[in-house]
Amino acid sequence: THSSISVSLSVPLSIDNQTLPKQIDELSTFSDAPDPAVTRVLYTDKDVLGRRYIKNLMGLAGLSVREDAVGNIFGRWDGYEPDLPAVATGSHIDAIPYSGKYDGVVGVLGAIEAINALRRSGFKPRRSLEIISFTSEEPTRFGIGCLGSRLLAGDVTLAKALKATVDGQNISFLDAARSAGYAQDQDDLSSVFLKKGTYSAFVELHIEQGPILEEEGVAIGIVTAIAAPASIKVDFEGSGGHAGAVLMPKRNDAGLAAAELALAVERHILESGSLDTVGTVGILELHPGAINSIPRKAHLEIDTRDIDEKRRNTVIEKIHQSANTIAKNRRVNLSEFMIVNQDPPALSGKSIIEAMEVASKELNLTHKLMISRAYHDSLFMARISPMGMIFIPCYKGYSHKPEEYASTEDIANGVKVLALTLAKLSLS
Ligand code: GLV
Ligand code: MN
Ligand code: MN
Repeated sequence: THSSISVSLSVPLSIDNQTLPKQIDELSTFSDAPDPAVTRVLYTDKDVLGRRYIKNLMGLAGLSVREDAVGNIFGRWDGYEPDLPAVATGSHIDAIPYSGKYDGVVGVLGAIEAINALRRSGFKPRRSLEIISFTSEEPTRFGIGCLGSRLLAGDVTLAKALKATVDGQNISFLDAARSAGYAQDQDDLSSVFLKKGTYSAFVELHIEQGPILEEEGVAIGIVTAIAAPASIKVDFEGSGGHAGAVLMPKRNDAGLAAAELALAVERHILESGSLDTVGTVGILELHPGAINSIPRKAHLEIDTRDIDEKRRNTVIEKIHQSANTIAKNRRVNLSEFMIVNQDPPALSGKSIIEAMEVASKELNLTHKLMISRAYHDSLFMARISPMGMIFIPCYKGYSHKPEEYASTEDIANGVKVLALTLAKLSLS
């Protein structure tokens, strides 16, 4: 098995504890929100600057860099058997509005440092090692998360849909991609698809985004499965009108329908009876959005997840039924109920779990098996390659907010486990 492979290094692995935190801070300055908050949205100027920063570091690490039509960035260290399927690692550098510096970034900058550390230790890869910085792991701009990895995994439906997709400003996906230097002379995004078997393994390093590792004082989380995410867009439409003149019995307020649906989402989640079922209404917009105007349109976006796919699907059905009932009772029109994505969960590869466990043991780092409640590009890479994830503790489990933090020591531990895992997988 992979894990029985022992890696002999002329110099023990050492992580550069000065440079990596500095790079994390530097990358965080490419942001549309003030420090310590980070906002870095797909194909914006700040995203393009972040991409340039990553490509430069990949070049300095001696990697050959390429980008595909949607801007997934690849940095490759050729192995001595370069025709074998490579071992890949990576994460994302886009950041949702007012988030932190570590989500995704640790898995990209950390991967570059892992490669540098392997070089310093005299390691020679057998299979090539490839770092991927994925395009739009976050759904911020075009409403769909893991856009880059979904396409890499060959999502034909998405590739087609993107030709007609626009953002909140009515800018098309292709125009936005072109303004960032991608998709230059092609509308057909199928060039992004990778063949199954391109990689023998994919490993992602990420902050836990939950409190378990920190609370239990464990250095490394080894992910065995990623929970199943889904998201839904809903629009209600009523008649609107004057907030003073239209009497209550005459109203059909789209905003109140939305408010009622938001509460119904919470109720349906709680009815599942499992703490693993979660649901969030993170977007709720009223139109025209004036204090003295009855909301004529309301737009909600609902995020729901569970490690149990069937249970999550039951929640989605209940939400749909409630949306219909609320529309009827409030005499508004349910003009849209669109399930944007409804993905199955993914299991980590057995041999990759083993490799990560053995690497942690060899590095004398405490570790535990756990599930990922957040989604990651690994969820989609699992469709074309055996996959595994390495979690590190983060302060109070905070994520998707500016208070997100991971210590230099915890990051260095994660990078070491990543480096040794990549080395094992490269030789196997
Ligand atoms: C990823 O950012 C997620 O929302 O899980
Ligand atoms: Mn995130
Ligand atoms: Mn992330």
